[in-house]
Amino acid sequence: MKMFKKNFAILTICCVVLEIFGFGFLGLKARALAFETINEGVLTVGTEAGFPPFEYVGEDGNPTGFDIEFIKAVGEKMGLKVEIQDMDFNSLVASVGTKVDVAIAGMTVTEERKLAVDFSEKYYDAEQCVIVRENSNIRSSSDLSGVTIAAQLGTTGNILADEIVEKYPETILRTYDKFNNAVNDLRAERVDAIILDKVPARTFEKIYKDELKTIPGDEFDFEIEKYAIAMPKNNPALQNAINNAIAEVKDDGTYDKILDKYINADISSDSKGLWEQFVSSFIESNRFVLYLNGLLVSIEIAVFAALIGLALGMVLALMKIAKNRKGKRPIFSYIADFYIDVIRGTPLVLQLLIMWFIVMQSSKNGILVATLTFGLNSAAYVAEIIRSGILAISKGQMEAGISMGFSKIQTMRYIVLPQALKNSLPSLCNEFISLLKETAIVGYVALSDLTRVANQISSATYQPFMPLIGAALIYFVVIKLLSSLVKMLEKRLNKYDIC
Ligand code: ARG
Repeated sequence: MKMFKKNFAILTICCVVLEIFGFGFLGLKARALAFETINEGVLTVGTEAGFPPFEYVGEDGNPTGFDIEFIKAVGEKMGLKVEIQDMDFNSLVASVGTKVDVAIAGMTVTEERKLAVDFSEKYYDAEQCVIVRENSNIRSSSDLSGVTIAAQLGTTGNILADEIVEKYPETILRTYDKFNNAVNDLRAERVDAIILDKVPARTFEKIYKDELKTIPGDEFDFEIEKYAIAMPKNNPALQNAINNAIAEVKDDGTYDKILDKYINADISSDSKGLWEQFVSSFIESNRFVLYLNGLLVSIEIAVFAALIGLALGMVLALMKIAKNRKGKRPIFSYIADFYIDVIRGTPLVLQLLIMWFIVMQSSKNGILVATLTFGLNSAAYVAEIIRSGILAISKGQMEAGISMGFSKIQTMRYIVLPQALKNSLPSLCNEFISLLKETAIVGYVALSDLTRVANQISSATYQPFMPLIGAALIYFVVIKLLSSLVKMLEKRLNKYDIC
């Protein structure tokens, strides 16, 4: 137990020191800056940076593109500094007014979205079209019958795809979080057509020159759409300010300049060899720093969540095995049971989304929400690990403790728990390793952990191979290192065994 306490204390002290010395371990400092309200001079803007040329991840790992420069110009006219938050497209509307001030993401004005948000004046006319493989026979709406079509989740392309599936029930629809993944599946013949906005479709067509082609929306009777900035409902002051700024940006020629730079520009990419892919995925623009930052986010969440999980898990385990004087389970034992059941009975992603969008709706601190969610989730598993550790200690030890004059609580604290924790150590470490890997879902709350960084880089380089394999290798090395450390720790603890 002494060893355990010592290690636990060392870990906690390290975390606190790192935080104090400005490593931003909790990320609170950086985030506090990033989330000041509009009044404090910062406009936080949600986007989904997988929609070139409107928004995509640039060379330096930050979102760039037409929308990004446009909103920055609009912000400048309003006297505000713009902070961009890259998140899932499907979460954007729900995040406006809570997680971000406004959203810009090539977002079409629709009646349904207008129920949840207000829109600025339109800033771009768009239309949906269909992108297929170069050798495809799909030419019009009726050709989509019986094939597999794709769309990005929550987009207007998704709505059109739903209508197509309704019309042709044999057609299969696959929805994606990222267009990039849909395009890769189109190239790999896993889907036959993607419904998406024309300008991004043309961009993908140019990038994969001889592989893909677009068919205009008129062949499918798609209507014209309008892109606008989404903002919280019923805030006429903000709406006016944004509309005036848009007008200014259009009048002074900035709008046309950005248009020329991104929409009318020629983008193309030649297929790259493995070495070139490696260079563009890791070395160019110092991209390896982005992976390291992503890894830090993963570690940061996993470490703090593990601390919460361990503390709460221990309490839950003791609550669960508690018995009253009559030998019956008290009410809090049932409460612990219920908590563990609920946590283990629901998917972690859902718990994260519930925390982000419902329980901590007004929190903009993704790290905090993720750490709490992972901690509360891990506690349920840790509780079961510790409980079985305690149950594995023979009853005789409890009796021996009591006959030596210890109280029940003292016996538990000084005799049973230390042994239970030591026995549980391998499983507890496995739990930490799972935590570290599970952080891969924090992209849902707009955080850039290692997995999301790999995804972002693959959408910036249009080559998924290197970033994904690279991220997998980094996880592997870190986890291998961790398990070796755990082995060493176990050995040291075994030295304290009496028998
Ligand atoms: N215009 C479409 C919509 O509003 C697609 C927008 C997708 N944008 C993006 N950043 N992924 O539904």
